Amino acid sequence: MRRRRLPTTRPQPILRGDGVVLRRPEHDDVPSLVALEDDEMARRFGLFGPSTATLLHAAVDQWHRGWDVDRSVANFLSCRGADGAIVGGVELRHQGDGVAQLSWWTFAPYRRRGWAGAAVRLLCHWAFTDLRLARLEALVEPDNVASLGTARAAGFTEEGLLRSKQTIGPRRADLVLLARVAADPAPEDLTAGSSRLSAHGVDEH
Ligand SMILES: CC(C)(COP(=O)(O)OP(=O)(O)OC[C@H]1O[C@@H](n2cnc3c(N)ncnc32)[C@H](O)[C@@H]1OP(=O)(O)O)[C@@H](O)C(=O)NCCC(=O)NCCS
Repeated sequence: MRRRRLPTTRPQPILRGDGVVLRRPEHDDVPSLVALEDDEMARRFGLFGPSTATLLHAAVDQWHRGWDVDRSVANFLSCRGADGAIVGGVELRHQGDGVAQLSWWTFAPYRRRGWAGAAVRLLCHWAFTDLRLARLEALVEPDNVASLGTARAAGFTEEGLLRSKQTIGPRRADLVLLARVAADPAPEDLTAGSSRLSAHGVDEH
């Protein structure tokens, strides 16, 4: 059986870079999250509708367990560096053998301003440098142009279409497989004059 635990005993860190801060969700965040979720998020993640406070409190416990106990899932809120406002989130799920799957979302008021791209680039940087993972994958519905754009902005390459791959809510979905491997050039390094991730830092939680 493949091991899914990450080889780390460290607390989930706070990651900083590119104007965005990634930190783990807390129970105090639940009222904000209830107010921010929208139908597009629910549709893309196969939920019946935006989450209730009860569901989100249970999810916070599960996210904490995912890192503190299982050592296989790191769920982060993406926050605006300037004032800490919650703009979205990212999640890393270790699949074993140095491979992880990523998910991302930006809450509606903050979309199309570069938040998802910045958050995913920062998550990738941490996954390759601190966790020393070899390969990061994302599965995106072919009609989700915003998410395909996010993947490309974070240096992912399309590897093919996985037909009828997953049930998402009421539909059986084809999914585009995208991946970025440790040897791929980081998109931030390809941006002339960019020092955005040189400001990257890792804090213990
Ligand atoms: C997908 C999602 C996370 C994008 O978040 P975002 O913060 O608006 O994305 P960004 O502003 O960082 O944009 C990233 C890239 O995608 C492109 N993009 C974003 N939204 C787009 C849209 N609606 N149409 C076309 N391109 C889009 C941007 O132009 C950008 O590319 P660039 O860097 O080359 O300019 C957001 O729309 C969302 O949360 N959707 C619902 C949940 C979801 O689908 N999650 C993914 C499940 S696989």
